[in-house]
Amino acid sequence: MSLDLEKSQQHVQQEIETFSDPEIGYPANHFAFISVRERFSLGGVSSLVEVGVGHGSAIPVFTAEGIRMSGFDIKPELVVESRERAQEFGQDPHSFIEADIEIPDSYIDLVGAGEFDALVAMGVLPHVKNTDAVLLNMSGLVRPGGHVAIEFRNSLFSLFTFNRYTREFIIDDLLNGVSSASREIMDKALAERIDVTKPGPATSAFHNPFEVEKVFQRLGFLDIEIIPFHYHAFMPSQESIDPREFRMQSMALESEESGWRGLFLCSAFLVYARTPSS
Ligand SMILES: C[S@@+](CC[C@H](N)C(=O)[O-])C[C@H]1O[C@@H](n2cnc3c(N)ncnc32)[C@H](O)[C@@H]1O
Repeated sequence: MSLDLEKSQQHVQQEIETFSDPEIGYPANHFAFISVRERFSLGGVSSLVEVGVGHGSAIPVFTAEGIRMSGFDIKPELVVESRERAQEFGQDPHSFIEADIEIPDSYIDLVGAGEFDALVAMGVLPHVKNTDAVLLNMSGLVRPGGHVAIEFRNSLFSLFTFNRYTREFIIDDLLNGVSSASREIMDKALAERIDVTKPGPATSAFHNPFEVEKVFQRLGFLDIEIIPFHYHAFMPSQESIDPREFRMQSMALESEESGWRGLFLCSAFLVYARTPSS
């Protein structure tokens, strides 16, 4: 085993040992990456591009699997950070550049663009203007038949949060097209039962996994799977009552196998899919 590979694996193991500490942010991406790594490994993925590399926290995770990584981010200061991380874990720092997934010309010179075996994008889709265009841009970065794993914020989770988002989901989405008289009755009833003022307005977009699946189908992606992650054992507003209980029970839920509970208990989901073969 190479020294770089060993270093990545040690780093990942050390991180896992901190996960039960509620003082440290919930390790949501760890659980997302477990399913992604499994699929990439079955698909023989050896090169990966990450859109929105951020602080580079995915670099050790995938290099620990022997995958060669590249990536880009819209924020120059984060590119500097991810280059440092890349170097630390034996990757070419020049494979990490400043670019915007909404502007293909900005990443046209990234070595490997169009030929990567796989793509990962965490926390990017909630911030883009045109979902269809961005998904096609992402598809264009990987080879035909390549793999994508793209994170979305789950709008169905609103049914478990009992707050402003619950109200907005029920009135705007579930009751879409129903008369304003009916919606007003429901709206009043909700305002009497839950605090519809909290939290503040959402700063990024939520997506409905049932609708997103149809978008991927329409754009020609294949083998589409919805993978919920970031479970909540109780609603986020109650987490501070018992942070340790929340952390341990939520992490335990990440491996539940019902096939449907995650659609409501998870604040995020991944779409894993293959790009068309040619
Ligand atoms: C929630 S952070 C996730 C960072 C990292 N992927 C992780 O999982 O830790 C989302 C990242 O996407 C980047 N981003 C947002 N819009 C982008 C765009 N249009 N093109 C490229 N990167 C973008 C942000 O700057 C940010 O670093």
